[in-house]
Amino acid sequence: MGYRETYEAWRADPEGFWMEAARGLDWDRFPTRALTGEAPVHRWFADGTLNTCHECVDRHVAAGKGDRPAIVHDSPVTGTKRTLTYGELRDATARLAGALRRHGVLSGDRVVIYMPMIPEAVVAMLACARIGAVHSVVFGGFAANELAVRLDDCAPKAVIAASCGIEPGRVVEYGPLLQDALELAAHAPEFCVVLQRTEAESRLQPGRDVDWHDFQDGAEPAGCVSVPGDHPAYILYTSGTTGRPKGVVRTAGGHLVALRWTMQNVYGVRPGDVFWTASDVGWVVGHSYIVYGPLANGNTTVLYEGKPVGTPDAAAFWRVIEEHRVGVLFTAPTAFRAIKRADPGGALVDRHDLSSLRALFLAGERADPDTVDWAKAKLGVPVIDHWWQTETGWAIAANPLGLGLEDVPTGSPGRAMPGYEVAVLDEGGAPVPAGALGSIAVRLPLPPGTLAGLWNGGERFEKTYLSAFPGFYATGDAGTTDEDGNLFVMARTDDVINVAGHRLSTGAMEEVLAGHPDVAECAVIGVADELKGQLPLGLLCLNDGAARPPEDVAAECVARIRAEIGPVAAFRTAVVVDRLPKTRSGKILRGTMAAIADGREWRMPATIDDPAILDEIAVALHGRRRPRTGDRRPEGAS
Ligand code: COA
Ligand code: AMP
Repeated sequence: MGYRETYEAWRADPEGFWMEAARGLDWDRFPTRALTGEAPVHRWFADGTLNTCHECVDRHVAAGKGDRPAIVHDSPVTGTKRTLTYGELRDATARLAGALRRHGVLSGDRVVIYMPMIPEAVVAMLACARIGAVHSVVFGGFAANELAVRLDDCAPKAVIAASCGIEPGRVVEYGPLLQDALELAAHAPEFCVVLQRTEAESRLQPGRDVDWHDFQDGAEPAGCVSVPGDHPAYILYTSGTTGRPKGVVRTAGGHLVALRWTMQNVYGVRPGDVFWTASDVGWVVGHSYIVYGPLANGNTTVLYEGKPVGTPDAAAFWRVIEEHRVGVLFTAPTAFRAIKRADPGGALVDRHDLSSLRALFLAGERADPDTVDWAKAKLGVPVIDHWWQTETGWAIAANPLGLGLEDVPTGSPGRAMPGYEVAVLDEGGAPVPAGALGSIAVRLPLPPGTLAGLWNGGERFEKTYLSAFPGFYATGDAGTTDEDGNLFVMARTDDVINVAGHRLSTGAMEEVLAGHPDVAECAVIGVADELKGQLPLGLLCLNDGAARPPEDVAAECVARIRAEIGPVAAFRTAVVVDRLPKTRSGKILRGTMAAIADGREWRMPATIDDPAILDEIAVALHGRRRPRTGDRRPEGAS
């Protein structure tokens, strides 16, 4: 069946469609119903029982595939490579799960995992799943404060950490970061398991920390605990409009049903194929397509601890593809922009045998046509943009390789996948005609594998996602569709920006800047960047009589964001201005400032309080006034 027939089959019988997809898993008890619960909180496969680790690991071993490579760890930053077969992965997860249970970690308990791109991170995730514990992986590029916020929100019984991560030219010691986070957090986990890496060992605190190997010594291997289909599999925090991140909750049954379906139908990979997602286990792309999707589908997943450039050069991706015979690669467009910048002519591509590669998938940020065209020309395989988010866990829109590619124009991430009825709505919630810009929303219920709610969220889930357009989930993205149903995703409608494929909150950055004693008022905007897509830029108004010179305050603000949010924010520019432009009702005109910063066309907002301020901003950013032209709808107009 092709895309259209498959989408129609889902529309005709959504529950039947997903029940059929559910047959791809083992289940301990097959569900009798796909969807239950009352709108807006739907539950998937709630009366089935299964275990995530069994579905991802043990069942492949039981089927005689124990010798198949499950994880290939390729780490140019340490100069090491290691392969774990499915059999070895089963034994490692059983051992760690047994040790966790011996230390009192039970089904439903939370465990925070703070580890870089090493096989033990995957083992830790699966070991939690094995005993029904709920993991929350925290990305290594965040500062201690971000880790503390997550510790307080999910209140883990244990933390599993590595002693360090390795960035090109620098070892990131996790020990001091974890120590600071535990001091900042109100919640105290009962214990921390620490994997010592030779590049930097952590000082273990007696009574709290235990070495990874000692912890597992003599532990009885644990079997897989059966959990209901709607048991939480994991919590993954993502940026919202404020400094308080949102803990997206994913449930076990729907998660694997959907991911396995996508592996075969969206990514077109069969069990045994080598699948490589060049991302990080700390992001949703890593959860879904480094760990759970490929393993649930019996693939070999490549765990790459390196960068697209600089480890050692822009041929790194081609080497990995050649050496491990990668069939499908998935990464963020920014990685390809980095490679293209370093090797525009693609000379390094030609030096490698990329004959195993069948397709490149891109997601995480807008895929600019230049980069897509470059990748197509150099690789000679389909380059497929697809659009999704932490909340959905898998593609809302794609061009599904496994179903036979559709004719999707460059610039579009494709069409709605089965499970998603996508609508582009105006402010009143009415559908806009094809070609017109609006908010992209998905009609409820959301399909299996999407968020089941927010951890500790209470009403925040409904307020954030379901209240803007009754009966729909608001994606937070704006865009258009064409007559053929191809979607075009243009921009966020909230304070989220996307920096090198990393989702960040400008609101959270503003909260940090506002904490500086000399800052009276501030705004953070996302400005266009050739490599990273967007970069944050801070505009600061200082208190009258501020003690320090403006340059010092700006520099301190840059340091503050690095210390409180983390290096991943890539916040390097803060500009001191006299005033910020606002509407008469006091709303800061961030969109207009971003347009000025980018040198895009903009129009004087009708409701602006004092038009002269925009010229001041232009002078502060560019050293001269910007011409204002164009017919964009002015910001602040109702
Ligand atoms: N742990 C600690 N620090 C990290 C980190 C991690 N896991 N990941 C990034 N950082 C740090 C970087 O070292 C850098 O620090 P610096 O300011 O001291 O240089 C900072 O965070 C910004 O990182 P990044 O935005 O990644 O920029 P970069 O210049 O190091 O690399 C790219 C740019 C394009 C090469 C890089 O972003 C990349 O490989 N992107 C691939 C896409 C991707 O993985 N996206 C994730 C979602 S799909
Ligand atoms: P995250 O939750 O970190 O995966 O970020 C999700 C957000 O990234 C989406 O809401 C979009 O704003 C953006 N995004 C992801 N994929 C794409 C894409 N293919 N095209 C445009 N924007 C994208």
